[in-house]
Amino acid sequence: MSLQGKTIVITGTSSGIGAEVAKLARFQGAKVIGVDRNDPSLTLDGFVKADLSSPAAIDAAVAQLPAQFDALCNVAGVPGTASGELVANVNYLGLRHLTEQALGRISRGGSIVNVSSILGYEWPKRLDLHKELATTKGFETGAQWLKEHPVAHETCYQYFKEALIVWSTVQSQKWFLEKGVRMNCVAPGPVFTPILGDFVQMLGQERVQADAKRMLRPGFADEIAPVIAWLCSDAARWVSGANIPVDGGIASTYL
Ligand SMILES: NC(=O)c1ccc[n+]([C@@H]2O[C@H](COP(=O)([O-])OP(=O)(O)OC[C@H]3O[C@@H](n4cnc5c(N)ncnc54)[C@H](O)[C@@H]3O)[C@@H](O)[C@H]2O)c1
Repeated sequence: MSLQGKTIVITGTSSGIGAEVAKLARFQGAKVIGVDRNDPSLTLDGFVKADLSSPAAIDAAVAQLPAQFDALCNVAGVPGTASGELVANVNYLGLRHLTEQALGRISRGGSIVNVSSILGYEWPKRLDLHKELATTKGFETGAQWLKEHPVAHETCYQYFKEALIVWSTVQSQKWFLEKGVRMNCVAPGPVFTPILGDFVQMLGQERVQADAKRMLRPGFADEIAPVIAWLCSDAARWVSGANIPVDGGIASTYL
């Protein structure tokens, strides 16, 4: 696999999984432009500081991106210990807005990778709702729909990861056919990054201990990054509309 000659925009590069994807993509020959609300602590080829919960800030960030690039990795995210509104805005509405605004700059043969989660695994239970939300046009219309269809705070992280999987799946083929741009999700299980503690707090000890018996250990960010990088590469040119678990097998135990 090579990313030689590619320019890749990655969100969430200032920590955890996003930082590992950036490091690996540069090692594979790509130029990496990071986008994050915090300053990066690794070498990048470009960096745009932006709050990805705000459509105006996203528009300003997109204006600073290269006129053309090859892949967009939407890695930035917040855990369910944040407010429900912030989770909705960063993990779903903002991600969708950034992707839609950036799409015209992604070259034919390009790739979009969205980081979902094992916690989005139960999307089929709420498919109709997620499909309805997926048809809302733009950040504000999506936010209005959510006011009319409120989401419980305790499960908002799961809800918006489910919604992300459904939006990515239903939207992907249109863009692949029209623009030649693929879109996929990568669904990590628990990963040792700074937000793992928030997930423990969010899910409670009982669920965490039950999940611990289903897997060897939580993953490392450098075990998630290669799958994201591969999806950006030409080796994955026929992969689109997928949600790929990278979770040490935990998803297989939910059947
Ligand atoms: N760590 C896990 O166990 C786990 C499991 C499944 C999925 N995920 C998902 O992986 C992705 C990366 O998470 P991580 O574990 O690397 O967490 P992390 O906290 O280490 O990194 C998240 C990054 O997103 C950035 N970010 C958050 N809100 C932002 C905003 N409003 N504007 C701009 N940047 C913002 C942060 O500054 C940070 O750099 C997230 O989408 C998360 O939901 C994580």
